[in-house]
Amino acid sequence: MHTIFVSWVLLGLLAACAGRQAEARAFLVFGDSLVDSGNNDYLATTARADSYPYGIDYPTRRPTGRFSNGLNIPDLISEHIGSEPTLPYLSPQLTGQNLLVGANFASAGIGILNDTGFQFLNIIRIYKQLEYFQQYQTRVSALVGPEQAQRLVNEALILITLGGNDFVNNYYLVPFSARSRQFSLPDYVVYLISEYRKVLARLYELGARRVLVTGTGPLGCVPAELAQRSRRGECAVELQRAASLFNPQLADMVNSLNNQIGSDVFIYADAFRMHMNFISNPQAYGFVTSKIACCGQGPYNGVGLCTIVSNLCPNRDLYAFWDSFHPSEKANRIIVQIILTGSNEYMNPMNLSTILALDSKT
Ligand SMILES: *[C@@H]1O[C@H](CO)[C@@H](O)[C@H](O)[C@H]1NC(C)=O
Ligand SMILES: *[C@@H]1O[C@H](CO)[C@@H](O)[C@H](O)[C@H]1NC(C)=O
Repeated sequence: MHTIFVSWVLLGLLAACAGRQAEARAFLVFGDSLVDSGNNDYLATTARADSYPYGIDYPTRRPTGRFSNGLNIPDLISEHIGSEPTLPYLSPQLTGQNLLVGANFASAGIGILNDTGFQFLNIIRIYKQLEYFQQYQTRVSALVGPEQAQRLVNEALILITLGGNDFVNNYYLVPFSARSRQFSLPDYVVYLISEYRKVLARLYELGARRVLVTGTGPLGCVPAELAQRSRRGECAVELQRAASLFNPQLADMVNSLNNQIGSDVFIYADAFRMHMNFISNPQAYGFVTSKIACCGQGPYNGVGLCTIVSNLCPNRDLYAFWDSFHPSEKANRIIVQIILTGSNEYMNPMNLSTILALDSKT
């Protein structure tokens, strides 16, 4: 009798959990290596994180294609909205009910422009990501019907992270690059923003209604740039100038799109400011350094790729940068905490906690 009662309670609990699981909003991710959860593993490209020591602190302790020692920013957002991590769009496991959790379309190496990251060969450029998004909707529609599919997309939380590679892997890739001969830096930024606006407008057309848009981090402060361009460990001036031209114009563009639409669809996340907190005062955040990458070689461990033969720090939580470009899981946690609870200086017009509270009421 007692055991029967207990199992009824358990069944009830299980049913309640399953119900909640099905109701958690979908999460969709677009962008570059900062948010790629493994799409590039399925492609013939050199931009990949599919071997040791990538993933050394991931729950499975194996590389997954994430450019992190452990979890990346999308994983930590999934954690907060109560869902499983979104699967890479190219993963064979992304079928059936898994589609309802969302999908990650991001691909390391890409930028706003089609020519960014050309040296990585076969990567999923942003317009291709948007095409896959359409294909995804067709697949969800076949599963739950067109109305439910539309609802899933309209109610989804979306993250897009783009722009860093348009500087690092395009304008500043080589001295006298084609783009730098074509444009002065201020004109290039204006061009990037106008192209980015088209991408965001297309996302809206495809049904996106809540989109976190992250600006670039402090591009000149990453270990790769310190190694290449800095004399005494100060952040590289030109790349910092690029970021400080790009980010405010991105914030303005997002604001102007919202005004045009008449609703707060796009939310600007000031990744530059979020990073600068721990870059200018790493000790306050529990890091021993923000200049030296945990994994790499050469000055600041900032030269070349992170591989099995690289220097590897024993405690990844003590480093702001995992490899020469990408934050450690610990730094990603600090960033996601600000995305959730940051003031308007960081999250404009509102933080993710406010979005979640607002959207759960409607
Ligand atoms: C980039 O490629 C897409 C599709 O391949 C195309 O629609 C778009 O116009 C291109 N952008 C530029 C600036 O050439
Ligand atoms: C989020 O933003 C709002 C408005 O800026 C602020 O009042 C609140 O303290 C922030 N944090 C949380 C957890 O909501």
